[in-house]
Order: sequence, then structure tokens, then C-alpha cells
Amino acid sequence: HPELRSLLLSRIRDVPDYPQPGVVFKDITPLLADAAAFGALTEALAAVCVRHGADKVVGLEARGFILAAPAAARAGIGFVPVRKAGKLPGTTLTQVYELEYGSAEIEVHQDAFAPGDRVLVIDDVLATGGTAEASLQLIRRAGAEVAGVVVLLELGFLGGRSRIAPALAQAPLEALVAL
Ligand code: PRP
Ligand code: MG
Repeated sequence: HPELRSLLLSRIRDVPDYPQPGVVFKDITPLLADAAAFGALTEALAAVCVRHGADKVVGLEARGFILAAPAAARAGIGFVPVRKAGKLPGTTLTQVYELEYGSAEIEVHQDAFAPGDRVLVIDDVLATGGTAEASLQLIRRAGAEVAGVVVLLELGFLGGRSRIAPALAQAPLEALVAL
């Protein structure tokens, strides 16, 4: 929907040279603070959950939590956090992934899903795709199926879509706003 896209885009602020010189940070805090925009975003994400027949929503720490949790509640399905390493109390599965410099680790509880659960991943931004790709690997390792990935904003020039294509298999990747 072009109207939803322009509403969302109008509430995302560019912050030049953050967190480092030459990078333009996409700040979603104006969108979150606007009840109409955040409400429309939540409705759109919940509709994707329903359309893909998702049984669970995964949110990616930290900004993904803000979008994924209300969408899951609105869609009437459960929410599962994928967290940065060391934050989950139970037995976890860990996935290491490469960053531009160095590597990172994310985790999920081993028993977070029922066998065969269809899981939709929600995050704010798809950039290089490293975070989303690692989450898809975790979901499969935990015995669930990937229903798809939906992000608020895809930064197409960073190539995340092609990076995660193998991990998606045939599952869809949707971006509400693509730049
Ligand atoms: C950001 C963003 C996405 C990820 C996208 O999270 O929220 O999760 O990077 O980048 P990628 O596609 O290159 O993996 P970040 O880990 O910076 O911090 P957060 O805890 O604020 O979400
Ligand atoms: Mg993030």
C-alpha cells in the first residue's frame, strides 16, 4: 500500500554519521512515538502473520522486539525472543554470524517452538542480512519451519535479500518500505 509506505517512511529519521562517519542511521523512534503510524505498522505486521499462517512470531533483539511483540499479540499468536548471547536463562541454541568487522552471536531457547511450528521473523531493518540469516538457521535448528521474514525497512543497496535467500529457501521476505 503506497499510503502506508509513505506514512511509515515519513516517520523514519535519517541521522548522518551515526554510529560512525559516513553511515546514515535510520532512526525509527519518531515512528514509534506516533500512535497512528505505530498502530498502522502493527496492523500491517499482524496481517502478514495471518497471511502466512504463522504459529509464532520471532522478534530480533532489540529493535525487532518493539515491532514483533505487539504484532504477535494483535495476530493472536505467541512471541519468541531471539536474544544476543548470554541473556536467555534456559537451555539455548547459539548461532554465530559474521559482521563487517568480527562476529556476533544470537540465541533462542531450545524448547521455544513446537515441532513444525511455522515461524515468522520480524525485525526493523534488513541491512547486510546477517542477523536475519542467523535467526533462520536458529529456527530450523530448533525444529520449526520458517514462514517468512518481514521487516519495516530494507536497505537494498546492502544486499541482504540475496544473502538470506538460501536460508529462506522458498519462504517470502517482505519489506514494508524498501530503499
Ligand atoms: C540492527 C537492526 C537489525 C540489524 C540489521 O540491529 O536492528 O537487527 O542491525 O543489520 P544486518 O542486516 O546487517 O544484520 P543491531 O544489532 O545494530 O542493534 P539493536 O539491538 O538496536 O537492534
Ligand atoms: Mg536489531
